[in-house]
Amino acid sequence: MQAVRKLNEDITWVGADDRRLHLFENMFPIPHGVSYNSYVIVDEKTALMDTADESIIEQYLENVAAVLQGKKVDYLVVNHMEPDHCSGIARVLGLFPDCKMVASAKAFAFYDQIYNTCLPEERKIVVKEGDSLSLGKHELKFVMAPMVHWPEVMMSYDVTDKILFSADAFGTFGALNGSIFNDEVNWDAVWLNEARRYYTNIVGKYGPQVQAVLKKAAGLEIDMVAPLHGPVWRGAAFAEFLGKYDAWSSYRPEDKGSVAVFYGSMYNNTKQLAEMLACTLTAKGIKGVKVYDVSETDKSYLVAEAFRCEYLVFAAPTYNNGLYPKMKEFIEDLSVLNFQNRKCTVIGNGTWAPQSDKLMKELLAGMKGMDVSEKSLVVKSRISDAQLPELDALADDIVSRLQ
Ligand code: FEO
Repeated sequence: MQAVRKLNEDITWVGADDRRLHLFENMFPIPHGVSYNSYVIVDEKTALMDTADESIIEQYLENVAAVLQGKKVDYLVVNHMEPDHCSGIARVLGLFPDCKMVASAKAFAFYDQIYNTCLPEERKIVVKEGDSLSLGKHELKFVMAPMVHWPEVMMSYDVTDKILFSADAFGTFGALNGSIFNDEVNWDAVWLNEARRYYTNIVGKYGPQVQAVLKKAAGLEIDMVAPLHGPVWRGAAFAEFLGKYDAWSSYRPEDKGSVAVFYGSMYNNTKQLAEMLACTLTAKGIKGVKVYDVSETDKSYLVAEAFRCEYLVFAAPTYNNGLYPKMKEFIEDLSVLNFQNRKCTVIGNGTWAPQSDKLMKELLAGMKGMDVSEKSLVVKSRISDAQLPELDALADDIVSRLQ
């Protein structure tokens, strides 16, 4: 039985949710599940916009069949050739022998690589920037979007209905549960956090490429944005989401005045420091300080918080004469994601030879635009009474740097 939703008279969402997968890309926890979106355009010629992940493929094919009502698929448009969206291609091409696949040249190369095959030339329509495809009433125009999130990615713009099929861009984690439009979900409760976590961890490294696509999209009149994950965007709320995307992709803090304190701690002594700092900052008027244990909280949430906040504090002990491994992993992950432009403070700990403050400063200094305060705090095992004024001065420094 089908589970489909109409975007409008001609275009139908034929995706499905996966609530069984624990780790997206075998790395990122998805406690709220994930949706894999695909869309059918029924016109004189029919087009299927991407396929779906292996986990939902049977439901997806039933959905497609229900919408087609016996019609065949003329074009399979593949905006993104990553297996969470392209696992159904062979099935679709097998079911519809006259169907042609429409994709960028790189996407076809990836298809042959991923599936160890060689798609016959007569089944390919290779498109590039600005090319278009007429379905009858609908005309699709192709916009290349390399590295958002793979190099073969393109977006398809339905000129007739002003719908942008945006591939991974504007996607979010989270099962749709039947709510396929942004105005049908509670944006503030879960979706914004999941959208941020999806963007920063999956696409975060490619800020300049996202900025380039945002500039291209600014030239289009858009009534709906139909991504490959999460809700379809329509109405005024999309402008808000666009603003978030602009901040994330230009590595600007999303929330002015926000502070996150990330700590690693073996015996709660560095934890105590982090919490003392959070209390002091709050007493000095900073609202909404967040404290995270880098060993406890999954890195994908830490990364998302780093993108959100204006000021970051890193507190960690020395370990094997190096930096506490969980903190090292976290900062290195931020570096790999091309994270930049934040004010930071470091707090080090070490019982006999503290090194972690210096090592964190070195790592952060290697990242673009990181403004690391010269003022730091180093303790031996735990903060002594004599160092309490230093902690207070550290908080004053953070407050003054936030102005
Ligand atoms: Fe949802 Fe880049 O794949």
